Amino acid sequence: MVKLDGKVAVITGASSGIGEATAEALAAEGAAVVVAARREDRLVDLVGRIEGNGGRALAAVCDVTDESQAHGLIRKAQETFGSVDILVNNAGVMLLSAVGKGLSDEWRRMFDVNVMGLLYATDAAIDAMKRQQSGHLVNISSVAGRKVSRTSSGVYAGTKHAVGAISEGLRQELLEDNIRVTIVEPGAVATELPDHITDEDAREGLGGLLQLEILQAEDIANAILYAVTQPPRVSVNEILIRPTQQPV
Ligand SMILES: NC(=O)c1ccc[n+]([C@@H]2O[C@H](COP(=O)([O-])OP(=O)(O)OC[C@H]3O[C@@H](n4cnc5c(N)ncnc54)[C@H](OP(=O)(O)O)[C@@H]3O)[C@@H](O)[C@H]2O)c1
Repeated sequence: MVKLDGKVAVITGASSGIGEATAEALAAEGAAVVVAARREDRLVDLVGRIEGNGGRALAAVCDVTDESQAHGLIRKAQETFGSVDILVNNAGVMLLSAVGKGLSDEWRRMFDVNVMGLLYATDAAIDAMKRQQSGHLVNISSVAGRKVSRTSSGVYAGTKHAVGAISEGLRQELLEDNIRVTIVEPGAVATELPDHITDEDAREGLGGLLQLEILQAEDIANAILYAVTQPPRVSVNEILIRPTQQPV
C-alpha cells in the first residue's frame, strides 16, 4: 500500500537535484505533487515522468523570492488538488565566497532564496494547514546550518543557520495546530548546486570534498520520505545526513 495516498505535496526547487528526486519519491508513494522552480522545461519533463509512472503532478513556474508568486504557488496547489499537506522548502542557492570581495549581490540572492523564499511559501502554506488542522513543513538546511567552516563560507552558513532557527520557531508556534516541522541537513550531495559559484577560491576549496563518494539526491529524498510517512504523533524534527567519508 502506498503511504501518501490522498496527500498533496508542494516541492520548491524541483527542477533539479534534491527537489526533483523528492518529487519522484513522494509521487511514487501516492502523493499528488506540485513541482515548483523557474525552469519550466525541466518541470514539464518531470511531470511527464511522474504521470508516465501513474502519478499525479503539476508544474508551477515560481520564483520563490517573489512573495506574490510564492503565495500563488500554494493557491494553485489548493485549487488543483484541494489541499496542501506537505511543503518541502528546498529551493536554494550556494554562492560560496569569503566576505571582502564585494559580492553583495550574491549574499542578497542567498538570503532572498534560502530564507525569504522559504518564509513566503511557508506563510501561505500555514494558512491552509491551520484551516485543515494538519500539515508538514520540511525545510532543507545543510550541515552548514549546524557548523560554520571556511569551506562552506559564513554567509551561506548564515542563511542555513537562519533556516534552522526559523524551523525550530515554527515547530513551537505550530504544534497545537498539528503541523509538524522537519529540518533536513545534508552534507555534500551530487547536484548542480556548486556550478553557480563564481568565486574561484571557494570553488577550489570545495574540490577535495567533491572527490569523495558523496551523497546522491535520492539519499536525501529517502530521508524526507521517512519523515513525512511517520504516524501523526511522530514529529521527526531534524535529520543530519553526511556522506560516510565527509570529515566536517
Ligand atoms: N547539494 C548539496 O551538497 C547540498 C548540501 C546541503 C544542502 N543543500 C540544499 O539543498 C537544496 C537543494 O539544492 P540541490 O543540491 O538540489 O541543488 P540544485 O540542483 O541546484 O537545486 C536547486 C533548486 O533551487 C531552485 N531555485 C533556485 N533559485 C530559485 C528561485 N529564486 N525560485 C525558485 N526556485 C529556485 C532551482 O531551480 P530553478 O533554477 O529552475 O529555479 C533548483 O531546482 C538547497 O536548499 C541547498 O542549499 C544541498
